[in-house]
Order: sequence, then structure tokens, then C-alpha cells
Amino acid sequence: MGKGLEGWSVRHLLIVSVALNVWLVLKVSNYDKDTNFTTEKIFNGFCAHEEFHKQVPLSSSSSSSSSMAAAAVGEKKSVHDEADDGRIINFDHGDPTIYEKYWQEAGDKTSVFISGWQSMSYFSDVKNLCWFLEPEFGKEVIRLHNIVGNAATDDRHIVVGTGSTQLFQAALYALSATGGTEPISVVSSTPYYSFYRQVVEYMKSGLYKWVGDASTFDKDEPYIELITSPNNPDGLMRQPVVNRSGGMLIHDFAYYWPQYTPITSAADHDIMLFTVSKTTGHAGMRIGWALVKDEAVAKRMTKFIELNSIGVSKDSQIRAAKILQTVSDSREHAGDSKDFFETSYHHIERRWKQLREVVGKTGIFSTPEFPPAFCNYMSRLFSTQPAFAWLKCEGEIENCEDFLRSHKILTRSGKHFGMSPKYVRISMLDRDSNYDLFIKRLSEMRT
Ligand SMILES: Cc1ncc(COP(=O)(O)O)c(C=O)c1O
Ligand SMILES: *[C@@H]1O[C@H](CO)[C@@H](O)[C@H](O)[C@H]1NC(C)=O
Ligand SMILES: *[C@@H]1O[C@H](CO)[C@@H](O)[C@H](O)[C@H]1NC(C)=O
Repeated sequence: MGKGLEGWSVRHLLIVSVALNVWLVLKVSNYDKDTNFTTEKIFNGFCAHEEFHKQVPLSSSSSSSSSMAAAAVGEKKSVHDEADDGRIINFDHGDPTIYEKYWQEAGDKTSVFISGWQSMSYFSDVKNLCWFLEPEFGKEVIRLHNIVGNAATDDRHIVVGTGSTQLFQAALYALSATGGTEPISVVSSTPYYSFYRQVVEYMKSGLYKWVGDASTFDKDEPYIELITSPNNPDGLMRQPVVNRSGGMLIHDFAYYWPQYTPITSAADHDIMLFTVSKTTGHAGMRIGWALVKDEAVAKRMTKFIELNSIGVSKDSQIRAAKILQTVSDSREHAGDSKDFFETSYHHIERRWKQLREVVGKTGIFSTPEFPPAFCNYMSRLFSTQPAFAWLKCEGEIENCEDFLRSHKILTRSGKHFGMSPKYVRISMLDRDSNYDLFIKRLSEMRT
């Protein structure tokens, strides 16, 4: 009898569990009816700094969850005459959905077909130092750099990674794994990309430790300096600041592309990181690459990725190769399609113009200014127009994130970047419908 009861309970549990799962799935897919932020919570797990879960002070609105929902389905409405439906605008992360429009227009020529029997093996190119690098992807990386002129590719090793996030960790490992018994200091000048610190700290590695602001680092010991140029969050062009012997540098060039900043020369450093996330907007492919001068460093980075994930998705590399090829073709076979970087440049340029106009009018905020420079790719002079706006609340407002949250605009506070909460970082790469609504709300703000 005991056994019977047990069997019954297990069956019951199963039914309850299945029912719960069905309910969860329904809840997640039921974007429009759910008045809470179910989807946002799920979508933002990876970038949810603790602030995200703080209650947003909302005036009770019934349509507050539709932002991610509408976003997930793709916006169809004409945006300029759109009334403010009171939805939450989430500009906390840098999801590069601005680029969807270009790729929708590009249509089927960017489609990739992969049969069931293809890309099955772990191995891609066993003769290559980076044995999981798809040759086609490596070829398109070099071609694109040569066309854009943003990085030296001669005598470099390409290491492919699951996003540049994995490559950043591979580089930390490669530079610190041969060190002494003490963890190596990792520094970056403030304001720095907030994710660096979290990534460096989360494994409590014995190889390296987060020290923070590079401009106050004065120890006479080996260190690793991260240089993000243009910088996330403030968009400024960066150089190393510590400049001491024993320094090892990682250059993060996620944004060194001509839609964001003038390409003034081919960057030529020991370790340079790039990512399709910010180049073409394909963040979901999770593909990045490193150009590495030193063979031993490239080998150790490859080893890290082997230990960490036994390589990098071949399917993603094949698709990334196709996307990069399309971008290069859009330049070299002009007429077939619009130059990707020109088109994207103009899209972002319009947004910055709108932002500066409304910031000037309200007087509540200020934004950084950028010096103009000659871009070799565009053959003209322009100023950096970053992927993020580094906004400062002027006057009385001490907490800019809270202030904007009260207008249902989620941003990332300056304190995550080692700065004051008077600053916030705002993504400039969201979809038009959200960006236009953001501008509309800013223009109606009063302190
Ligand atoms: C400076 C910088 N580096 C790296 C990344 C991460 O890119 P990936 O998607 O390739 O991991 C980001 C994303 O926001 C970034 O801003
Ligand atoms: C939304 O969440 C709040 C608190 O988390 C809860 O009290 C409320 O009932 C939820 N509303 C719906 C419709 O689920
Ligand atoms: C450090 O060196 C770079 C060149 O690599 C230079 O541009 C920069 O100004 C130097 N920084 C300081 C603080 O001296």
C-alpha cells in the first residue's frame, strides 16, 4: 500500500510539474496580457545588475510590460505619430537591435542553410593554432579589417570566441597564467565598462584580481590594463594610462567601427578584441575575435577556450562569415546594396542630433562633446557618435537613474562604471519605436 501511495504521489508530482511548466511557458509567451515584467526579467538575467530588480516607481499603468514584448515581435507601427502608451523603455543594456532594419532589407542574401550532417565535428582547422576557427570566418575577418582599415592583420593570430566576453577572459588567463604566486592586478580607467569588473571578480580567480581605476594605480608590479576605445560608457577615444614596465594591455575595440567613430588609422596592438555584436548587431550569434601578435599568448587563449567550451559554435561562425561577407560586399559591390557602415552611420547620426537638440532644450542633462577627426573609411571629417549616451543630470538631481526611472526609462547608473550616480548610460542602439518614444519623453520632462 505504501508503494501504491508513493506511486500515486510521484504521478501527482509529475502532473503538477508539467502543469507548472505549461503555465510558465504560457506566462512567458503571453506578452500582452501580463501586466508585470516577466519577459524583461528573463531577458535581462545576464545583464541585470542588482538595480534592475528594484521596484520601478510606476504610476499604475496596464500596458507597462509591452516594451520587450513589442520589441521581441518587431515593431511595425509608424513611430513618429505614436502616442506614449506608458510602457517601460529599457535602455539599461546595449542590445543592438537598431541594425535589424538593415538586415531585414538585405533579405535572403544573408540567409545560411546548414544541413543536418554539416558542422558536426569538434574540429575546424587542425593545422591552425586556433583549431576551432572556421577558415571561412577567419578569411572574412581579415577581408573586413582590410576594407575598413581599422586594424593591422599581418602576422596576427586570429582566435575566435563565444563573444568578445569569452575572449576577454581568455586574454586574462593567457596573460596571467605564467605569472608568479600573487594574482595580477587588472585595471581600467574610470568610467570603465561595468561588465569587466563583474567578469574579473565572479570566479574569485587566483590568477588575477580587479583593482579598478587605472589612473590611480601606482604599484610597481606587473598589471593588466584594459583599454576600451571608443570607451563604453562615455564614447571617448582611449590610450593606456599606466604606462609602466610590466604592463600588459588588452585593447577592446568593440566600437572601433566607422558608424561610431572616425577610423583614423589601423590599430596595431598586442591583443585586440572585436565582436560582431557591435559591428553588425548580431549579438545573439555570440561571436567575437581577437587579433593576437604573440604566438604563445594566442596559444594560451586557445587553450582557455578549449577548457572553457571546447571551441566555439561552428554554426555561428559560418553564419558570422556570411554576415561579414555581406558587409564587405556592400562596400565593394556598391549598387547591389547600401553600404552597411554608411547606412548605420546615418541612422545613429540622426539619433544623436535628436538627443542633442532635446538635451539642449530641457537643460536637465548634459552630454559629452567629441572632437572631429578625419575618417579614412568615410573620407570625411566627423565626430564620434557613440553607441551609448553618457548623460549627466545637471542641477538638483543627484540620482539620474532614479529620475529617469520615474519616467519609465531604465538606464544604468554611473556608479556601475566607477562614477557618480549623477551619470547614467543610455543605449543608443535600440529600435526606432523605443528611441523615438524616449526622445518624446525627454522633450516633455520638467524638473
Ligand atoms: C566594450 C565592450 N566589450 C565587449 C562587449 C561584449 O561583447 P560580446 O557580445 O561580444 O560578448 C561589450 C558589450 O556591450 C562591450 O561594450
Ligand atoms: C505584479 O507583481 C506584483 C508584485 O511583484 C504583484 O503584487 C501583482 O499582483 C502582480 N500583478 C500581476 C497582474 O501579476
Ligand atoms: C601613455 O602612453 C600612450 C601611448 O601609448 C600615450 O598616448 C599616453 O598619453 C600616455 N599616458 C600617460 C598618462 O602618460
